[in-house]
Amino acid sequence: MTQSLTPLEKAALLSGENVWQTRAVPRAGIREIFLSDGPHGIRKQGGSGDHLGLHSSEPATCFPPAATIANSWDPQLGEKIGAAIGAEAVALGVDVVLGPGLNIKRSPLCGRNFEYFSEDPRVSGAFAAAYVRGIQSAGVAACPKHFAANSQETRRMVTDSVVDERTLREIYLTGFEMAVREAGPKAIMSSYNKVNGYYAHENPWLLTQVLREEWGFDGVVVSDWGGSNDAVAAIRAGGTLEMPAPGWDSVLQILTALEDGSLSEDDLTSRAQEIADLARSLPDKQDRGTFDTQAHHALARRAAGESAVLLKNEADTLPLALGTRTAVIGDFALTPRYQGAGSSLVNPTRLVTGVEATQRSGLDVIGVAQGFVRNGVHDPALVAEAVALAERAEQVVLWLGLDEISESEGLDRPHLDLPANQLRLLSELAQGETPIVVVLSGGSAVDVKWMGDAQAVLHGYLCGQAGAEGILDVLTGEVNPSGRLAETYPQRIEHTPTAGRFPETGSRVDYLEGPLVGYRWYLSAGIDTALPFGYGLSYTTFEYSNLTVDDAGAHFTLTNTGDRAGAEVAQLYVHRRSPSGVLRPVRELAGFAKVQLQAGENRRVHIPFDQYTFRHWDASSGSWETESGQWQLHVGANAEDIRVQANYNLGGTVGAGTGAETQLRELVDTVLSASAGESARAQSGTHSVGGSPKRRRREINLNDPLMELSEARSPLARLAATALRRLLTRAEAKGRPDLNLLFLSGMPIRDLAKMSGGAMNLEMAQQLLRLVNGRHVAGLSGMLRSGLRYRSYTRRTREQFRSLSVQNPTQSRAEEIRS
Ligand code: BGC
Repeated sequence: MTQSLTPLEKAALLSGENVWQTRAVPRAGIREIFLSDGPHGIRKQGGSGDHLGLHSSEPATCFPPAATIANSWDPQLGEKIGAAIGAEAVALGVDVVLGPGLNIKRSPLCGRNFEYFSEDPRVSGAFAAAYVRGIQSAGVAACPKHFAANSQETRRMVTDSVVDERTLREIYLTGFEMAVREAGPKAIMSSYNKVNGYYAHENPWLLTQVLREEWGFDGVVVSDWGGSNDAVAAIRAGGTLEMPAPGWDSVLQILTALEDGSLSEDDLTSRAQEIADLARSLPDKQDRGTFDTQAHHALARRAAGESAVLLKNEADTLPLALGTRTAVIGDFALTPRYQGAGSSLVNPTRLVTGVEATQRSGLDVIGVAQGFVRNGVHDPALVAEAVALAERAEQVVLWLGLDEISESEGLDRPHLDLPANQLRLLSELAQGETPIVVVLSGGSAVDVKWMGDAQAVLHGYLCGQAGAEGILDVLTGEVNPSGRLAETYPQRIEHTPTAGRFPETGSRVDYLEGPLVGYRWYLSAGIDTALPFGYGLSYTTFEYSNLTVDDAGAHFTLTNTGDRAGAEVAQLYVHRRSPSGVLRPVRELAGFAKVQLQAGENRRVHIPFDQYTFRHWDASSGSWETESGQWQLHVGANAEDIRVQANYNLGGTVGAGTGAETQLRELVDTVLSASAGESARAQSGTHSVGGSPKRRRREINLNDPLMELSEARSPLARLAATALRRLLTRAEAKGRPDLNLLFLSGMPIRDLAKMSGGAMNLEMAQQLLRLVNGRHVAGLSGMLRSGLRYRSYTRRTREQFRSLSVQNPTQSRAEEIRS
C-alpha cells in the first residue's frame, strides 16, 4: 500500500528528538537514528545525554586522536582504526559516528588541533577517506566534520570565516572533497561558523553547489550541535538535520514556511528522503553483537607505536638496552594525558600508564618520581626527589607534556610553551650526568627550544589508552620509529602566518594569508622552522635515488642503508617553475608513501599523479585548471629535506602565464605587515586579540554569545555573565576545562531555543532578548505569553504526530516518501 508522509512527518524528521537521536516514523519504515561522537572512539552517553559529558559514556576503545594517527602517514592504519570504531559503534547501538574531524590546522594555537589531522589537505583527505571507509565497512555511517573553514575555537559559534574561493577550495575543502569522492560518507557535519557570510548549515554555495552538485554527495548534512540558525534556510540550502533538539519549534517554522510559500515542498521532501535513506541503510538494531576489547587495545598500541615521532636521538641514545637502570620521572608517566578534552572524550576500556608500561618493558625501573605538579608551580621538593633518583640511574625517561587545560575543544592556546615548572625540572636534571630521554605528550605543536637539554626526544602526541605500551615499544627498539610530523613546529609563534591575528576575537576572521598555511608559508616566506612538516627520525637511515617522472607519476629507488628494518615516509612535492601566472606556494605535497624495508633492502617506489596533483582553482572561470609547462617534482624525507628532484613538462588545460612570483612576494609582504601591524597595536594597547573586554553597553542580538551579556543593558543579564565567568575561572583553576561551561559561554542566545529540547522556542528567546536589552517588563510578559502559546502548540503537534502512526500502522517503505 502506497503511503506518503505528511509535511508534519517530513518536518519532524529534520531535527533531533533528544541530544543524540532523531525521530522515527515507523509506519513508513523509518527508524530513529542514534548519533555519537567521536573521531577516535565511541562516546555513547548513557541516560538522557547532555552533549558535553556530565553523564559518562559506555566504555569503548580510546584510540589515539587524529593528530597522532596522521603522524603515521599510513592511511591503511587509519582505515583499520575506522573499522574497529565502526564495529564498536554497532555493538554499542550507535548509527552515525561523528567523525573524523579534518579541519586544516591554520594556526598551531587552535585548541582543537588534536582532533584534526594536518595542516595539509592531502594528508587530511587521505586519512579522512580512510577512516570513512573503515567506519562504514561496519554498516554504520561516518560523519566527517566540521564543514568548513572551522579553524578557531574562540567564538567558534559566531565567527564568519572570510576566505577567497581559491584558498577555500584548495586548502580548506580539498580534504572534504577527497573524503566525499573517495569514500562516500553517508553524512557530513556542517560547522558552527559562517563561511563568507552564511552560516555553514545554511550556506547554499557550500552545501548545494559544491558538496551536492559538484562532488555528488547525496547523504545527510547534520548541523554541529547548536550550529543551526534558521531551520527553513537550512533546508533550502541543502542542510538536512538540525541537532541536537529544538523541540517542535523548527517543525512549526518549516510548516509555516510551506504555507506561506517561502519553502518548497520539493526541498522539504528531498531533505526528508535523505534521512529516510540513511535510516534504511543502517544495520538492524537487534543484531548488535560485541566487540573484541583485547584486539582493539592491541590495535591502539600498534597505532601509538607507529605514530610516535622521534624528534632527537643524539649518539644513538635510543633504543634503550633492556635491563638498564631506569628512573621514570614526570607526572605524565603516572597520570597519562592520552586524549584531548571535549566532545571527543572516550571512556576507555583500559588505561596503561607510563610507569606500568616501563615496568613491563624489560627495563630495570629503579624508581618513580612525580617531578612536577602538572597544573602547578615549581615545587623544589619534587625536583630534589627527581634529581636524587636520576643520580642513581643509568638513564632517565622523563614524561613531559601539555596539561589538560592547555588544549581543549572550546579554547585556543595563548602560546606554544610547555609549562615552566616542567622545563625547570628538565634543566635541573640536565645538570647531572645521566642521559635524559624525554617522552612528550600533547596534541599539537609546542615550542621545542628545550630539546638541547635532552639526549633523545620521542613525541607520542596523545597516544590513546594503550599509548604508553606503544611508546615503550619504540623506546626499547621493539618498534623502529616511523612517525613523521603532519604539522610544522615553528621556532616562535611570531613566525606563524596568522601571527597577531589568531584567534580573532571579533566576528570576522579574515584568512588573508590565503593558501600560505603551514609549510606552504614557511617555505614561501623563507622562514626557518624548529621542526619541518614531515620530519621524524628512525633507528635506521634511508637513501633516495634514480627519480624518474612520467605521466603516471614519480618513480624512485629507496634504500634502507642502516642495519635494522624500518619504514620511511617518502614525500612527493610539486614545485611550479616560472614562467607562471598562478600564485603558488614554493612547494606543495602531492602524495606520499610509507615504505617498509629490511636492512640493506631497496625498492622502486611509485607515487602516482591524480586529479589533485597539479590543479588550481581559477576563480574567474569557476573551474579547476592545470598550468602547462615546466614543473619540478621534489621527493624527500620532509618539506625541507628534498633528496631527489626532476623536471616534468605538463600539458595542462591552460597556458603558462607570468607574474606569479611577484604575486607571491606581495602576499608574503601583506601577511608580514598584517602581523607587524597587530604586534604594534598589541604594544600600544589597542590589540584586537585577547585583550580584556571593553566596558560598554550595547543592543545584544540573537547570535551574540552568552558571554557577551556582560555588555547588555540589563543588570540582570550582566549579573548572569559575571556568574558564568566566575564559574569558568573556578573550573580553570582546577586544571581541567569544564566543557559544558565553556560551551555555554560561547553559545549564541538563539541556542537557548535550539538546544533546550523544547523548553524554549525562538519567539521566547526573542522576548528574553528584550529583557536582556533592558525592557524588563515587556520582555518578561512577552516570554510568558509566547511560552504558553508554544506549550499548547507543542502538545497539539506531538499528539498529531503520534496519532499519525496509530492511524496508519502499515509497513510502507521509506522510498515511498516521494510518492
Ligand atoms: C562539537 C562536535 C561534536 C558535537 C556533539 C560539538 O560541540 O563541535 O564536534 O560532534 O558537539 O558532541
